[in-house]
Amino acid sequence: MRSGRSRLGSWSWSRPAPVRGSASSTQFCAPLPLGGARVTIWTYGGELPGREIWVRRGDLLRVRLDNALPQPTTVHWHGLALRNDMDGVPGLTQPEVAPGATFDYAFAVPDAGTFWFHQHVGAQLDRGLYAPLIVEDPDEPGDYDRELVVVFDDWLDGTGRDPDQVLTELLANGMGGMDMGSGAAAMTMPRSDLLGGDAGNVTYPYFLANGRTADAAHTLEVRPGQRIRLRMINASADTAFRVGVPGTAMTVTHTDGFPVVPTRVEAVLLGMGERVDAVVEVPDAVMPLLGLAEGKDGVTQVLLRAGPGAAPDVVAAAVALRGSPVTPVGDLSATESMGLPDREPDVVQPMTLGGPEPGYTWTINGRTYDPAAGVPVREGQRVRLRFENPTSMFHPMHLHGHTFQVRGAGGVGPRKDTAIVFPRQALEVDFDADNAGQWLTHCHNVYHGEAGMMTVVSYVDS
Ligand code: C2O
Ligand code: CU
Repeated sequence: MRSGRSRLGSWSWSRPAPVRGSASSTQFCAPLPLGGARVTIWTYGGELPGREIWVRRGDLLRVRLDNALPQPTTVHWHGLALRNDMDGVPGLTQPEVAPGATFDYAFAVPDAGTFWFHQHVGAQLDRGLYAPLIVEDPDEPGDYDRELVVVFDDWLDGTGRDPDQVLTELLANGMGGMDMGSGAAAMTMPRSDLLGGDAGNVTYPYFLANGRTADAAHTLEVRPGQRIRLRMINASADTAFRVGVPGTAMTVTHTDGFPVVPTRVEAVLLGMGERVDAVVEVPDAVMPLLGLAEGKDGVTQVLLRAGPGAAPDVVAAAVALRGSPVTPVGDLSATESMGLPDREPDVVQPMTLGGPEPGYTWTINGRTYDPAAGVPVREGQRVRLRFENPTSMFHPMHLHGHTFQVRGAGGVGPRKDTAIVFPRQALEVDFDADNAGQWLTHCHNVYHGEAGMMTVVSYVDS
């Protein structure tokens, strides 16, 4: 076993790293408009986001979950092609971990990249139970000086209503009646051309980057001219983020952990569960990395500070990102060595997304989640999933335990584990069935998933 490192020090994985899910009183980092109020939130280890785990490709990762929450929970390692019994899906790959109980996760980490982990019970992901998992590649040259992990999130827990209550209300009342008041930072671009008029079901009072609102932004001190690799993760429940540095192009190098042909972008759209790595050069100034809540009324940021001076006004700066953002499924392509070898699929599986009906039910192929009625695949097959989205909302569809190849409009798309299927569009993805087990596949809108939009890719014996 190797040792991992984190921004907060080093520890060895020869003993399980403690991940303590707990309800703790944490300073909510927003002097305005929350006035520094203390709210009780659920986190891993008392930090928001939870402390980053850094390992190297091929490491054996051991983590002990110590459940100090008042509800059962599990941990899912999003994006990793790990062994099935460590995948953290309650009732499918493991029993729920009861309050007061522990569970030891231990698995080999096969691929390098930007991953993350989060709970997988009910609406808990819309609390603070998430953290980055960064897998370094010892062989990657890496054309950058520093790295910064940035986690975007939509936030309402502790502000008058918790995610369980939101889910209960959605299930009872449908999509209406979710208005929670106006956003904290007034924006002028609430409608999204990409997502249509219906960019989410929940109105959030706050949008966070690394656990902070825009007016209390996390700041990284850098030297002028340094090249920063941004590892960006969207941990939101119901919000896509448009991310970018106003006035400066970023070079996207990876999505969902896997390398893409380097692509210069002004802004990129990140659906829930998606990740993008991009390199940006910081001049002698204060440079904001903005996250605009796509189609909603809000913005958050982290600051890269290479010189003195005040940060630009966040709302004014956001105007520079008005153009159409790049989307990972539409505009990125896998590097040659990362594409799946050419092969005709052995099976083409339709995945028709439906909802909401009658009130707030979301379906795949006409049914809500039923682990006994999954999508059968056989080991060794090349499988094509054909997502059809006749609904008026976008759905970031995630497959556990595999990385698929998006079939791009013009040829090879990126390798991903989470891909937005835009409203009234279709998307095809291919993967090799090389990791036997029962693998959840679902919409990463937490409320859609909990309202039924999940199924299982189920390995069966030939
Ligand atoms: Cu991050 Cu089942 O997902
Ligand atoms: Cu959805």
